[in-house]
Amino acid sequence: MGKDVIIACDFASGEETLAFLDRFTDRKPFVKIGMELFYAEGPEIVRKIKSRGHRIFLDLKLHDIPNTVKKAMTVLSRLDVDMCNLHAAGTKAMMEAALEGLTRLDGTRPMLIAVTQLTSTDEQRMRDELLIGAGLEETVMHYAMNAKEAGLDGVVCSPLEAGSVKSRCGGGFVTVTPGVRFADSTADDQRRITTPEKAKELGSDYIVVGRPITQAEDPVEAYTRCLKGFVG
Ligand code: C5P
Repeated sequence: MGKDVIIACDFASGEETLAFLDRFTDRKPFVKIGMELFYAEGPEIVRKIKSRGHRIFLDLKLHDIPNTVKKAMTVLSRLDVDMCNLHAAGTKAMMEAALEGLTRLDGTRPMLIAVTQLTSTDEQRMRDELLIGAGLEETVMHYAMNAKEAGLDGVVCSPLEAGSVKSRCGGGFVTVTPGVRFADSTADDQRRITTPEKAKELGSDYIVVGRPITQAEDPVEAYTRCLKGFVG
């Protein structure tokens, strides 16, 4: 499995997204489509981007009863995306059902990645609101292990957690890591950030990069710089 840079296409409309992607005439980047764009434009935007030759990470973070998630995943598998995700908090039964639903008749399927704890949930909220007494790190590693046992391909995590996830779940267990910034750019609202070079060193398999590329004066140059730093 090759390391790659995934551009988070956090745009409000399909028009804006396609205009942005039009700039990439050479290498077609792997792109992440999130809830905002998907809910605004529907599955058609996925088909359009796919038909232009991009690989797609559909970031919809499913979480429901196993049967519902299984059926929803079957629908997503027909969209021919390359990667999709769900919440590990939905339990191993839900993750197993998701995998079943995602697997096509010929045995192929998109990669399936689990979200452990959202970075917006801190230890105090876990304890006070969710009544989770274990620490954040322990919970993240436990959820990662559940995902691995359910047969998933990997997790979304901080680059700073990639090493621990790999040593706990094995080197082949994929880490998809947001929170990447160039050494000379602003952090925006990200707190624990690393550069593409450092993310590579820490063992990330895919870095998810949004604003440092989408808001750059020259997005293609920023993407190329990311690739150079991360993939080499
Ligand atoms: O613009 P930026 O590089 O911060 O974008 C990072 C992307 O990764 C966004 O789409 C954001 O929602 C997503 N993400 C994140 N942190 C997580 C999970 C997802 O930044 N823990």
